[in-house]
Amino acid sequence: MSEYLHGYTKQEYERLIHQAEFLKDLVYSKLDIPSEGLLLELGCGVGAQTRILLQKYPRLRIIAVDRSEEAIATAKLGMKEEYLPRVQFVCSDLSDFISPQPADAAFYCWMLEHANNPVALLKQASKSLKPGAKVFLTEVQNNTLQVYPHNENLERYWAAYNRMQLDYKGDPFIGIKLPGYLQEAGFRELNIKPCMFIYNQHDKSALKAICEYWWRLLNSAAEELIFKGYIDAETRDLSREHLLNLHLHEKAVFSFTFVQIIAENKF
Ligand SMILES: C[S@@+](CC[C@H](N)C(=O)[O-])C[C@H]1O[C@@H](n2cnc3c(N)ncnc32)[C@H](O)[C@@H]1O
Repeated sequence: MSEYLHGYTKQEYERLIHQAEFLKDLVYSKLDIPSEGLLLELGCGVGAQTRILLQKYPRLRIIAVDRSEEAIATAKLGMKEEYLPRVQFVCSDLSDFISPQPADAAFYCWMLEHANNPVALLKQASKSLKPGAKVFLTEVQNNTLQVYPHNENLERYWAAYNRMQLDYKGDPFIGIKLPGYLQEAGFRELNIKPCMFIYNQHDKSALKAICEYWWRLLNSAAEELIFKGYIDAETRDLSREHLLNLHLHEKAVFSFTFVQIIAENKF
């Protein structure tokens, strides 16, 4: 298995569940996911989005796929019994996965940024989709992060985090490239939705919450970043201090833009 920025640990599994709940309103508000039929959830991790999808769309069936056996086992264990008849978990690399029946839609969330071959994965997914089926992509664009007041430790940390993801053959700047990738993979009717959020003292609790969430995200890679020499422990500690105290600064602003795209499988 190729190296993976966040790793496969119990702490990371809990972070993914927290992340999905925390960002739920932002992620799902613009997606017109079909309310019934079969949806492929590609790169499902521990089923953090699967739970939300099954709850939001009570007539939807899901085949949820991830290459990590441990993540799939954790997803199964954490699934409410009432959802089990509508979900099947499959352990497979997405480059090999073919759905047992043609699906009505596919959903990727925070996954293609970790792929070293996103176009190949999209082409492979296309083989499992009905003609005209919709694909829903949610991805990062990490150079949109703005934290004010600026802090050189935090900026060094963020640059190192992104560099390590690139070194792992992922792409922290994939959002802007997805329209081209989808076209290359044969999808059409692209509908691009930039999702910007910006918080300041106007909503202090939201500002504090996003900083705490962001610290959990950064911290998920801390051990590896320090172990591999991308940053030192002091940079981590000073970054944490800046982020967790940002809400105390009267002019503080936190902003980020992720990218969502809805496209159709070719006929
Ligand atoms: C950041 S997690 C996101 C999980 C889930 N989508 C969520 O939002 O909670 C990315 C997941 O993609 C999976 N993944 C990455 N590359 C994969 C591949 N080629 N085939 C299958 N799964 C893959 C990883 O194992 C990991 O569980």
